[in-house]
Amino acid sequence: MEQVKQSKELRSHALRVMGFVEKAVRRLDHPEKLEPLIRECGRNHCHYGAQPHQIELVVPQFLQAIKPALEEEWTPEVEEAWCLLMRNIAFALKCAMLEAMKK
Ligand code: HEM
Repeated sequence: MEQVKQSKELRSHALRVMGFVEKAVRRLDHPEKLEPLIRECGRNHCHYGAQPHQIELVVPQFLQAIKPALEEEWTPEVEEAWCLLMRNIAFALKCAMLEAMKK
């Protein structure tokens, strides 16, 4: 676990995930911009060797990571909203990967 916590690769990927979520949130009202973003990220993950079923493993990790930062603002409603958002992002990424794998 210590090695995992110290891993520069995981830290850098965590920041990429955060950056991706930020971009996705900004595009929530613009599906025409959100869809290509997700498609590209899904396609890229096929090249990285990630498996579609592994994508959703990031969801609980993400929630655990942001919880301490939000402190008392972390309410059951906020948790549910983030959980739904991340599950939707993970589902869309997984679909994009499966689509890219067909080609
Ligand atoms: C919600 C889930 C995930 C999100 C939002 C996400 C997001 C990202 C983003 C934004 C990048 C930067 C390059 C790009 O845009 O393609 C990236 C890179 C990468 N991801 Fe993910 N990722 C997720 C899950 C995973 C999983 C489950 C794996 C492996 C099992 C993985 C492996 C990688 C690798 C190997 C790279 C390239 C190296 C790096 O940039 O760290 N990702 N990911």
